[in-house]
Amino acid sequence: MSHVKDPSLAPQGRLNVEIAEKRMGALLALRERFKKEQPFKGLTIGMALHVTKETAVLVRTLTAGGAKVAITGCNPLSTQDDVAAALAEEQNVLVWAYKGESKEDYYRFLNAVIEAKPDITIDDGCDLVTEIHQKHPHLLSTMIGGCEETTTGIIRLKSMERDGALKTPMIAVNDNKTKHLMDNYYGTGQSTFDGILRSTNLLIAGKTVVVLGYGSCGKGVAMRAKGLGAQVVVTEVDNFAALQATMDGHRVLRMSEAAAIGDLFITVTGNLHVIRWEHMDAMKDGVVIANSGHFDCEIDLKALESKSRRKRRVRHYLDEYLMPSGRVLYVAGEGRLVNLASAEGHPSEVMSLSFMGQALACEYLVKNRGKLPVEVITLPPEIDDFIAGLQLETMGLRIDELTPEQKKYLASWQEGT
Ligand SMILES: NC(=O)c1ccc[n+]([C@@H]2O[C@H](COP(=O)([O-])OP(=O)(O)OC[C@H]3O[C@@H](n4cnc5c(N)ncnc54)[C@H](O)[C@@H]3O)[C@@H](O)[C@H]2O)c1
Repeated sequence: MSHVKDPSLAPQGRLNVEIAEKRMGALLALRERFKKEQPFKGLTIGMALHVTKETAVLVRTLTAGGAKVAITGCNPLSTQDDVAAALAEEQNVLVWAYKGESKEDYYRFLNAVIEAKPDITIDDGCDLVTEIHQKHPHLLSTMIGGCEETTTGIIRLKSMERDGALKTPMIAVNDNKTKHLMDNYYGTGQSTFDGILRSTNLLIAGKTVVVLGYGSCGKGVAMRAKGLGAQVVVTEVDNFAALQATMDGHRVLRMSEAAAIGDLFITVTGNLHVIRWEHMDAMKDGVVIANSGHFDCEIDLKALESKSRRKRRVRHYLDEYLMPSGRVLYVAGEGRLVNLASAEGHPSEVMSLSFMGQALACEYLVKNRGKLPVEVITLPPEIDDFIAGLQLETMGLRIDELTPEQKKYLASWQEGT
């Protein structure tokens, strides 16, 4: 039986999914093919993904292809309750999710998905797959494989592979160009500000925005901060990424220097405690801190909770901490992915690309059942190219084709100046 917050929210959820579908034309085109070919007939797909309107479009695409879907969230604060209610009414779908899940429910729901005995998993952050490997390893011998959505999940999967712990093939959907160079960059770039603005209504122009981490997400966040009129400071631990940030026109500083000058801090490193007590203690009065990395471990909230003098919820997912110095500091989205905790996550258009990657990765697993190495696998580049082409087509855009002469030239080495 499904578990959602309020089944009566389903009509609004259905409307939101309808709007998302309007903006996810390429994924719908794939759905039409799946309807005819039924690639997932007889299979159960277990999912731990943010339960958003876009995810619902993916779920409908997989069930149109014959799958049964068992889904839960992948973050306690990212579920859209109306969408969860709408999904609970879909045929061949079981859903366990609500916004504000306790840790116990979060794991109870993951285990409900596991009890559905998934043939394929789709994870965002690798909690479902680690839970299966650690507590239900007997399922792994019959599982076809899994797909992972995000950078943090891939890092965990690669650690499993390195430790010899990985027991089923895993597709790194995040490694598609049409995923990390689109979703992480344009999606996180925009939706991080959507979340911060809904929580704070802060004017970004004229502010110093400190972006911690200049990877795919950080580049997008920094680009949008600059576009909104901020002075952008980047902190990094990677020489090349720091060099890129400098060449893109941002100021690169150590966090110990940036802490005292920033007005808004955004973590997107996928790493632990990149904002620590000594940084928070040095911050100006009224600064805002937000995280858009996968887990809520980037800001040392435990230290903040224990050392601050008072904590108040002052508005929509905005907590005010009174520091021993008398200054106040605001944390948006409880330090969880701010775009999903305070807003609705990425816009549908960009999720169409990511979820075409997920849908095609599931099909790839089925087509190559039993033949894939037990490793973290990147999809063939033709699939990435197909996704980009289909998206362009649904946007009504056409590109040039290589002439036979150009093809020959590009394949040759004899011709020089
Ligand atoms: N909010 C969202 O919707 C969303 C979307 C996609 C990815 N993510 C998550 O965002 C995080 C970042 O993803 P990405 O694709 O940009 O990863 P990435 O690997 O491309 O970039 C991370 C960057 O952070 C840097 N870094 C690591 N430790 C650091 C530290 N101590 N100080 C400063 N910089 C540091 C790394 O050098 C790297 O350049 C991951 O957790 C990912 O799962 C979130």
